[in-house]
Amino acid sequence: MKLGIIDMEMATTHFQVKLDTLAAALNVDPNKYRYGLRQEAFSMPALDEDPVTLAATAANRLLQRTGREGIRTMIVATETGIDQSKALGLFVQTLLELSSNMRIIETKQACYSATASLQMALGIVARKPEERVLVIASDVARYAVDTPGEPTQGAGAVAMLVGADPQLLEIEPASGVWSAHIDDFWRPNDSSTPMVDGARSLDAYLGAFTGAWEDYLAQGGSPIEEIDYFVHHQPFTKMAIKGHRRLVEHTGAAIDEQRVEPSLSYTPQLGNTYTASLYMGLLSLLHSDLDLTGKRIGLYSYGSGAAGEFFTMVPQPGYQKLLHPEIIAAAIADREELSFAEYRRLHAAHERGSKQDYTNPRVTGAPYRFAGVRDGARYYQHNEPQAATGAFSVLR
Ligand code: COA
Repeated sequence: MKLGIIDMEMATTHFQVKLDTLAAALNVDPNKYRYGLRQEAFSMPALDEDPVTLAATAANRLLQRTGREGIRTMIVATETGIDQSKALGLFVQTLLELSSNMRIIETKQACYSATASLQMALGIVARKPEERVLVIASDVARYAVDTPGEPTQGAGAVAMLVGADPQLLEIEPASGVWSAHIDDFWRPNDSSTPMVDGARSLDAYLGAFTGAWEDYLAQGGSPIEEIDYFVHHQPFTKMAIKGHRRLVEHTGAAIDEQRVEPSLSYTPQLGNTYTASLYMGLLSLLHSDLDLTGKRIGLYSYGSGAAGEFFTMVPQPGYQKLLHPEIIAAAIADREELSFAEYRRLHAAHERGSKQDYTNPRVTGAPYRFAGVRDGARYYQHNEPQAATGAFSVLR
């Protein structure tokens, strides 16, 4: 029985910041961002957007195509969750009016946890093939201003429906995993931005890659010559190229970089989407002009701290019929551009606690919005005109 991804969708934010704008304001050579990092812009949430609204928007787009039948589990992967205790998916369940007969959890291990969530979902559908599992990766990557990470910010979500006999992608059983305690990137509970040792995070990414690759081979994975295309985690686009070069060096195989390039169309525009990043790369490859039917795609998932996993997927016959590249093209193109001053003001305005009540201005055009905080609890709304006067009307 084949198991894998039945369909997938994405969402991103209302705003974007162009890196040429950032470079000019910070007096940095724009070529450093354009060619050194291979980044052109990043997505930035409005005050009424957050990982919940991104997750709900992506999942809504997906479920409109797939329906909800058989979905009894939702796993939301995030490293920018909104609560230390309650799973983000419970807010999504309410916004999407999903069934109460569901198990809903949140997973965390930096950018890696969407991959662990996919593997858990496969275990569930292997046991009950009549069920389907909704896996969502959703994050807002917000770095401190005036740090090397600032140009690598971003935000976005990818929703995937996992099940038996998938029409889009089979996920093959072999998988290589690698984990070790490394302080390369982390975010303490009382900090809204991460601590980053940039150079160490690059080393950890590459070390976890060879560790996961060797384990993949030991677990009966395919030889590198039998992997047709590659998608690597993309905290910034150049990192995926660096990872690929390390794999080539490690294996001694002559693998053309053209086998990774088709996965690199979206991250230069979106920036780092943390848990969603690898899967934005996968969408980029699927949306390319290539006929990938029956081809083997190797995916390298990485999360600082650190964990890596290498595994493979195979696009199924007719998979192209399920693709909607126009949705991501519009999501990227429709973002409103911020000036440097507007961006910095918004960045500072996102620094909010839960001790004081606030109501968010109505900005996003997405179907769901984060209305504000009252008595320490977050409130969300359907973004319909009639909801305009009814702040806090949905979730209490
Ligand atoms: N024109 C073209 N390229 C230029 C350039 C210019 N004018 N100036 C610099 N560059 C290149 C550098 O040569 C370097 O390329 P290389 O890595 O291929 O050698 C690249 O731009 C970055 O320059 P560097 O000086 O290393 O940048 P930095 O000190 O500002 O830091 C990161 C870069 C990636 C470490 C930093 O952006 C960061 O910390 N990002 C976050 C990392 C992260 O999120 N990790 C966690 C997940 S893995």
